[in-house]
Formats: sequence, structure tokens, C-alpha cells
Amino acid sequence: MSINLTNLTGTVHVAPDRDRLFDDLAAMLIKSAFDAVQQRGEFHIALSGGSTPEPFYMQLVTDPRYRMIPWDKTHVWIVDERRVPENHEQSNIRMIRESLLDHVVIEPRQIHPMPVLADDPVGEYEAELRSVFGCEMTLPRIDFVLLGMGDDCHTASLFPHSPAIDVKDRWIAVNEGEHVTPPPRVTMTYPLLNAGRYLAVLITGAKKAAAIRRVAQQMAKAPDPANLPITGIDPSTYENNPGRFTWFLEEAVCQGEESDE
Ligand code: 6PG
Repeated sequence: MSINLTNLTGTVHVAPDRDRLFDDLAAMLIKSAFDAVQQRGEFHIALSGGSTPEPFYMQLVTDPRYRMIPWDKTHVWIVDERRVPENHEQSNIRMIRESLLDHVVIEPRQIHPMPVLADDPVGEYEAELRSVFGCEMTLPRIDFVLLGMGDDCHTASLFPHSPAIDVKDRWIAVNEGEHVTPPPRVTMTYPLLNAGRYLAVLITGAKKAAAIRRVAQQMAKAPDPANLPITGIDPSTYENNPGRFTWFLEEAVCQGEESDE
């Protein structure tokens, strides 16, 4: 039986299999990139870690259709990161470099890893955002934010009942403690994520069906970020120029079929 997704925030895009889903997501990424470059001269993208996007990043490199991505005009930001050295197996920037950034022509100064081992990673990353976007107090608007969702419905490193869920006055937060899956994290907060111009959440594999069902049932009532953090994602309220949000779902996620992965 398929899950009723009509109450999800934003738009739902379902593809029959993972390859088609990646194609559709890549097409949207390229459209965002071209629009951003045409309108503002550069493209800012924020990428997530996790196992779901890794094959997507590899496809961006290997599929000739995606060579048109304007990497020379792109700035790459990180949605969230574990507080480990860059060469650590759990480092998101390590995975993103190995699967994607090491294989495209992009200036190193346009790649913005989170300074997770600094004494003040929050202040440093916010300062970097301010300086690159040239904004002092106003929220930077990232053109394309790629999110994932964990089995517990967390997104970025915003875990259920964790301290970063409640951070409304910073763009970046450290997240740690009993509700955070170790190691401690640094994460973009709701205000920064929801200021994004285009947010995409990529979810594949039937094992995520239970989580998406919980989100859909909750959204029939109201968002509940404390319990289901992904329900706090909503760029539609941004001032006069709202962002857009699309769920990119493999069909198996919506039907809860047994996974053969
Ligand atoms: C991370 C993330 C995180 C991730 C989800 C889903 O660094 O782990 O940014 O929010 O997207 O945990 O992870 P999977 O794709 O591995 O299921």
C-alpha cells in the first residue's frame, strides 16, 4: 500500500528507480546552477553526507550529461559535519571530495569545509559565509541545499530533541549530547537551511519507508521538529521571495516494499 504524501511540505517527486531519481535531481541541480549564475554570477550549493548521496555525487562526475555544471562559478558548502579530522572515515568532506570534488575542476578557495576542529567552528563558518556572500547580518541564501533523512527523521545533524533544534539566532550550531549520534557534530541550523532558494531532500531505499510514513502522518496535523526534525524544513516562509522544497523519493520509499539492497 502506498503512503499518502499529500501533506508533506513542498513538492513530492517520485521516480521508479534510483537512477531515474538521480537524473531528475541532477536536472534540477543544473537548472538551479544556470539560473544562479545568470542572475547573480555564481552558484552556491550545500551538500550533505550520509550513504544516500554518495552514488549521486559519483554520477555527477561520471555521466557526460553533467559535465555542464559550472564548477568554475560554484561555491560548495557543507550542510553538516562530524567533528573528526578530514581524513577520518566518517568525515563528510572526505566523502564529498573523493566521490565528487576531486574529479571536477574547481578552485580550492571555492570549497568550504566546516572547521570542525577549531575552538569556535560556529563563529568561523559564519564568518566565512558572511565574507563569501558579502552579507553582514542578513541571512545568506544558498541556491541549492541537498538534504538527506535518517531513519529517525533527522536531517542535516538536527537530531530529535537535540540542542541544535532550538537554535534560532545562529546560522551554524555545534550539536552534541545524549540525543546526538556520536561523534559530536557541526550543523547548519533551520534559519540558514530555510533561507535556501531551493531545498531538495533525497531519499532512497525501502528501509526509509517507515520514516517517511511517520513524517506524512505527522504533517497531516502539524510540523513537529522536536520529534521529527525534517518537519521543520520549510523555505516557503522566507520573506517576500520564498524558496522551494522538493522531496526526491524513490518509489520503493513510498510503497514500503521490501528492499533488495
Ligand atoms: C550526515 C547527514 C545526515 C544524513 C542522514 C541520512 O552527515 O549523516 O548529513 O543528515 O543525510 O543521516 O543518512 P543516509 O543517507 O546514510 O541514510
